[in-house]
Amino acid sequence: MGNFQVIDHPLIQHKITILRDKRTGTKYFREVVNEVARLLAYEVSRDMPLEDVEIETPIVKSIQKQLSGKKVAIIPILRAGLGMVDGMLDLIPAAKVGHVGIYRDPETLEAVEYFVKLPSDINERQLLVVDPMLATGASAIAAIDALKKRGATSIKFVCLVAVPEGVEALQTAHPDVDIYAAALDEKLNEDAYIVPGLGDAGDRLFGTL
Ligand code: URA
Repeated sequence: MGNFQVIDHPLIQHKITILRDKRTGTKYFREVVNEVARLLAYEVSRDMPLEDVEIETPIVKSIQKQLSGKKVAIIPILRAGLGMVDGMLDLIPAAKVGHVGIYRDPETLEAVEYFVKLPSDINERQLLVVDPMLATGASAIAAIDALKKRGATSIKFVCLVAVPEGVEALQTAHPDVDIYAAALDEKLNEDAYIVPGLGDAGDRLFGTL
């Protein structure tokens, strides 16, 4: 079973409170989503492997460390995932960015992919799938299905707010995927919104309320 980790650093908790507050407007919301994404990227990259490298300081030759693992690709789930990309790129600037669009078929209620554009070498990369809200888990599961179908083998899922049912659904569907969240909330309401949550993340990011 993949790991589920809540990154509850005080800075993150403070920033998530700002996002939850309905008085927070679009500009500030977008900035703070990126700030939280940046802090999450720091934790998500904690297990990146290192190798020795010999360098020369102004004083002496010295063996030091450099990153040695897989290259990274950040994969936002459209549309709200876009809000986390710049913050993650601040810490992992060499990452490529792929996009996955998922919609819910109004008749079957199934999650359907409508847009997938990925770096050609996703099978060799560590993929960080980002979406602010892990609610029912349906779009995260469908997005990861779409990535695995195209050869992805190494995937982490990173969100701002999760609920237990979403975490369980994603862990059951994709037990090899580690999940990182900035907060674990109580439940979903009858409209599948997270409670207390922060509302519709896409609408708040893009001002389409
Ligand atoms: N998606 C959102 O944007 N917000 C929720 O609360 C649940 C899903």
